[in-house]
Amino acid sequence: MTTTVETRLDFTKLGSRIGAEIRGLDLSQDLSYETVAQIREALNQHKALVFREANIRTDEDQVRFASRFGPLTKAHPTVASVDGAENVLPVDSEDGSANTWHTDVTFVLNPPQASTLRSVTLPAYGGETLIASSAGAYQDLPVELRNFADTLWAIHTNDYDYSVPKNLEHEGAEERRRVFTRVKYQTAHPVVRVHPLTGERGLFIGGFAQRLRIVGLSNTESKDILRLLQAYITRPENVVRVNWEPNQLVLFDNRITQHYAPSNYDNQPRKLNRVTVAGDVPVGVDGTKSQAIEGDSSHYSEIVSVGAGV
Ligand SMILES: [Fe+2]
Repeated sequence: MTTTVETRLDFTKLGSRIGAEIRGLDLSQDLSYETVAQIREALNQHKALVFREANIRTDEDQVRFASRFGPLTKAHPTVASVDGAENVLPVDSEDGSANTWHTDVTFVLNPPQASTLRSVTLPAYGGETLIASSAGAYQDLPVELRNFADTLWAIHTNDYDYSVPKNLEHEGAEERRRVFTRVKYQTAHPVVRVHPLTGERGLFIGGFAQRLRIVGLSNTESKDILRLLQAYITRPENVVRVNWEPNQLVLFDNRITQHYAPSNYDNQPRKLNRVTVAGDVPVGVDGTKSQAIEGDSSHYSEIVSVGAGV
């Protein structure tokens, strides 16, 4: 009879508030339940995990790994997947860069709970991913602002200028915007979301949050309040800057982070493949859940219960 001795995974912290990394964990293997449980625990704590030298070279490996955390979403509600891989979204510099702070797909009722990114083609310099803790931001708010934020709701939509690359001369930009917004989504989410596994509170806003749901408040005033809250998220203390290497995967908790891909690699190609894990419906501090206003996203993602996956 053999006994398996599980080793503790040795994550190294990258900062006090967000980020940890591990080198040499082979993600192409069938990981044990205990190993996946340790990764989930580390994700709850650190919010963004960097796996270097992860022996993860194919979409199949990435899909298998991501599936351990729950059912997967399709690649995107409106954008096409990688050919033959319905869960894999190409994040390709050819399609412009995501140099806007955002949380993935928050315009739908139940945005992904977690995202994985895998390095495919990397520039010789630049091309990092910045990931911010929205829990750190919430903690930094003066108590009066925190209490105010607790009461707010924001409308998130895919139909705004994020989907128009800033370099408008970029070839095919208009067509990409047409595809991105071919179905219009609008969802009301609480501005302060309670993380279902940890109970932590985080600001749940980002680029798709376009206005607050306050009767009588103008769009400009609404944006001013969102901008004020957003400034806490992007404070350097709340941000980890992840460098990319070949054969690397990053897993981040999409319920309590935002991210940004700086456009700092000139015209070099950069490609990451993204696979996301289906999420639950966000819940605010008073227990009220998000509400879909426009657009049906059931073809994109099932709604998971909180405990789905390890
Ligand atoms: Fe993203």
